[in-house]
Amino acid sequence: MSGRLSGKTAVITGGASGIGRATVELFLAEGANVVIGDVQDALGASVAQTSPNAVYQHADVTREADVKALIDAAVERFGRIDILFSNAGAAERDEGFASIDEASFNRVMQLHLASALYGIKHAEPHMRAQKSGAIITTSSVAAEGTTYGPILYSIAKSAVLHMTRLAAVRLAADKVRVNAIQPGLIATAIFGRALGLDQETSEAKAAVMGSIAELMQPLPVAGQGRDIAEAVLYLASDASRFVTGQSFCVDGGLTAGQVPNPEGGVFKPLADLFGVDPA
Ligand SMILES: NC(=O)c1ccc[n+]([C@@H]2O[C@H](COP(=O)([O-])OP(=O)(O)OC[C@H]3O[C@@H](n4cnc5c(N)ncnc54)[C@H](O)[C@@H]3O)[C@@H](O)[C@H]2O)c1
Repeated sequence: MSGRLSGKTAVITGGASGIGRATVELFLAEGANVVIGDVQDALGASVAQTSPNAVYQHADVTREADVKALIDAAVERFGRIDILFSNAGAAERDEGFASIDEASFNRVMQLHLASALYGIKHAEPHMRAQKSGAIITTSSVAAEGTTYGPILYSIAKSAVLHMTRLAAVRLAADKVRVNAIQPGLIATAIFGRALGLDQETSEAKAAVMGSIAELMQPLPVAGQGRDIAEAVLYLASDASRFVTGQSFCVDGGLTAGQVPNPEGGVFKPLADLFGVDPA
């Protein structure tokens, strides 16, 4: 199928890499105009160069003025904004509560929470006026389990979920929908970058993440940016016209639970403890 976003204009933050880049590519293939915002200018510009329907603009999403400017750019260049995918993000090493301070708290909350809040604030007037719009925020499985992400990151991603519901209710009367995507483990540069590697090396390392996928979640495949992009496409398109205030875990079954021990199933540890043959 194609053309599911024909005539629509999208703003995608963090579109230079990973999930954002995969979403830019899918949205363009589905007929959207796309404004890409990122801080990796050369990479972002190279993604935009693949289509006359894409433009790149430098935007540090921790700065409200930059987020507003991205939305203004969509309206000036393409006449409207129909979709906002607040996706930009990064991870940091987790060294426990003792390592958290005012600076790290503000940094992580600005990047993951305030950025999406600024997006809602500045997309809202345009979307309300046209009586349509789809905003997709980016949470994470880290908002579900306590061991899926760093502490501050997990707090921010949890707050994104509640903010998404708050916005969905406030904007619904004008048929503006707000939903969140919750990626599981997706093979992108984010992990290498968090460990201090450069973008190119991080992307190369992400390509080998499939080898550990079956240790991480029930489906023994590595999640790719495209897997998230497909879900974001649904939330962005008219196919989801009756969906708002929801969050969508796309995680290979990670949040559904652990795979039982293949020898003896869920009762194996108890059977061992009781000295009984689990079969
Ligand atoms: N990869 C995963 O496993 C995973 C899981 C759950 C949630 N997420 C979330 O998905 C989103 C995308 O992550 P990804 O895995 O594609 O990572 P990625 O590193 O491949 O891409 C993130 C992009 O965001 C950009 N960015 C970072 N800080 C920015 C800023 N201040 N302003 C503008 N752009 C900025 C980066 O330059 C990069 O292009 C993030 O919000 C991340 O927290 C990822």
